[in-house]
Amino acid sequence: MAEDLKLINGSKTAQYESLIPQIKALVEGETDLVANLANIAAALKEQFGWFWVGFYLVKDEVLVLGPFQGPVACTRITKNRGVCGSSWSAAKTLIVPDVAAFPGHIACSSLSKSEIVVPIIVNEIVVGVLDVDSEELNHFDTVDQQYLEAIIGLISFN
Ligand code: SME
Repeated sequence: MAEDLKLINGSKTAQYESLIPQIKALVEGETDLVANLANIAAALKEQFGWFWVGFYLVKDEVLVLGPFQGPVACTRITKNRGVCGSSWSAAKTLIVPDVAAFPGHIACSSLSKSEIVVPIIVNEIVVGVLDVDSEELNHFDTVDQQYLEAIIGLISFN
């Protein structure tokens, strides 16, 4: 496992292309889910500097806060609530260019302006979500969706 992350400047695509093999190296050989989610959140935060990046995991039919990087956040989110709860019920990635315009958005911080939430689907069941928040409006697009979904695909949920 690499001890240090190699960070690069460049296009968003170039940053993801550099980061993905490093995330792969970080998680392969480690079976503990929390350890792997923690390192993925840290790696994404280090490379991209996003305001908040982390995981919520479904426990007893509620999304419960998991490993993350950024300010303290809401600990529990029910199905259909906010962007995370909506991504969970739809089992789809949601890109929200302006959180103020998203009905039911849960404002963990007033500084968060746009958001992307990627569901983690195992055997056709959503077991959690990856949530990324930005202080800039319209920060995320389908490039983020494609690469963040690929990163989720590197995680083993056995
Ligand atoms: N804004 C999210 C809640 C989680 S925090 O942003 C970390 C939502 O509406 O689901």
